[in-house]
Amino acid sequence: MRKGLFSKLVFTFTVIIAISFVMTAAFLSYWFESYYFDQRKSQLETEAQLIGPTAIQYLQGNVSIDRINEILTYVGNYSSADIWLTDSYGYVYAVSDSGHKNLIGTQILTKELEELRIGHTVEKKGVFGNMFKIPVHTFEIPIYSRGIFNGAIMMHTSIDELRGALKKVYEIIWISAVFAIIVSCIVIYYISQRIIIRPLAKINYVADKISKGEVEKRVSIKSKDEIGTLAKSFNSMADSLEEVEKNRREFISNVSHEIRSPITSIKGFIGGILDGVIPKEKENYYLSVAYEEIQRLTRLVNDLLDLSAIEAGQFKLRIEEIDINEIIRICVIKFETKIKEKKLKVDVLMHEDRLYVAADRDRLTQVVTNLIDNAIKYGAEEGNVRICTRSKGDKALISVFNDGPCIPKEDLKHIWNRFYKADKSRTSKMSTGLGLSIVRSILTQLGEDIWIENKENQGVTFTFTLKKV
Ligand SMILES: Nc1ncnc2c1ncn2[C@@H]1O[C@H](COP(=O)(O)OP(=O)(O)OP(=O)(O)O)[C@@H](O)[C@H]1O
Ligand SMILES: [Mg+2]
Repeated sequence: MRKGLFSKLVFTFTVIIAISFVMTAAFLSYWFESYYFDQRKSQLETEAQLIGPTAIQYLQGNVSIDRINEILTYVGNYSSADIWLTDSYGYVYAVSDSGHKNLIGTQILTKELEELRIGHTVEKKGVFGNMFKIPVHTFEIPIYSRGIFNGAIMMHTSIDELRGALKKVYEIIWISAVFAIIVSCIVIYYISQRIIIRPLAKINYVADKISKGEVEKRVSIKSKDEIGTLAKSFNSMADSLEEVEKNRREFISNVSHEIRSPITSIKGFIGGILDGVIPKEKENYYLSVAYEEIQRLTRLVNDLLDLSAIEAGQFKLRIEEIDINEIIRICVIKFETKIKEKKLKVDVLMHEDRLYVAADRDRLTQVVTNLIDNAIKYGAEEGNVRICTRSKGDKALISVFNDGPCIPKEDLKHIWNRFYKADKSRTSKMSTGLGLSIVRSILTQLGEDIWIENKENQGVTFTFTLKKV
């Protein structure tokens, strides 16, 4: 990972730097070339002013050809240019380089004569009709004497020679580009190491540790950038992983504990009967106790299976139109024996005869059964149980009240947890502590809410919502 990210960054920066340098170089060389040619032009123009009067004097017969050749050779060497003089018809009569002596007497200028005659200078680039082996830059300046066109001065300079100076500039530009790339590679290396690569490696290391089971490991990156945010999200993900892991361990230990005690007692009773420790006439009694324990185990396992199925969303809810009042009536009838045993007074208050809601019949029965079961179990002996249904807006509110002691404040937020039993002394042996978790899971799946209210010195009310149809 380290190599990949770094080389990608370096590659990107190198490309950016190279592109910007190419553009700068192109711009600079264009500007520099035209500047250089302009300079050269004005230099040659000055020199032409030196040659011009002598040429006129020669044409008038006042100066010898040797003198004019001497001046041309001198100026030609001095400005490293090849200089030719032509008369007003374009015929060459003097050259600075003796190598071109054969041109004397030939007509070189034809078309340009028009331009020159009206006083314009002419500029050309090329091999000049194969008279030169290499490309030259030619500059033609007319000579005037008292307003009469008297011929022209032609000055040729090798383009390679001109470009030689430019080459130096390009070299400097490219050397500085390479230098800039090297420096930026070093800077990128340090910066990317500091702000990206090292923090990522840290996160990677911790992720690896967590995946191997060390869920308490966290990343300590305090930066306020995206990497810092990533580290923060990573840590909160690790928190929830740890929580899940804790719950899992707790759940397993709870389940094992709940299963161990009935199994131990069943084993004890049956062992006692087999060994003959339990007298024959008591056998039946102990067998019935063992049977009760087995029933408890069965209930526990069924509840657990239900809960995990609901939480995994495996129970496909069959939503239909149900009369919640009818469900409550059926449930109350189911508990008749228990109600009578405890001499409870049960009131069912319904505002209308029927209250239709959208829910799954079996699951809703489970919710109502669990709540009424709790009210009967935890309500006071000979106490009151009140079940109300009413409608509010598009919701139906169902509440189950029982008088008796309130649930202690510190237990309130835990009673929805699996295996949580608030008052250990009052909960019967048959309790598993799964009832309310099942209730809440079902209502959550239905998208509904449930809450609990302690009424000081009176009792406890559980209220849940359902969607009316
Ligand atoms: N109506 C109530 N009045 C007082 N305490 C209650 C009431 N309902 C629940 N509790 C408390 O909340 C705890 C959790 O209830 P829950 O229904 O989840 O488990 P349980 O009744 O102990 O076991 P199960 O419902 O599986 O038989 C109970 O042990 C009890 O202490
Ligand atoms: Mg219960």
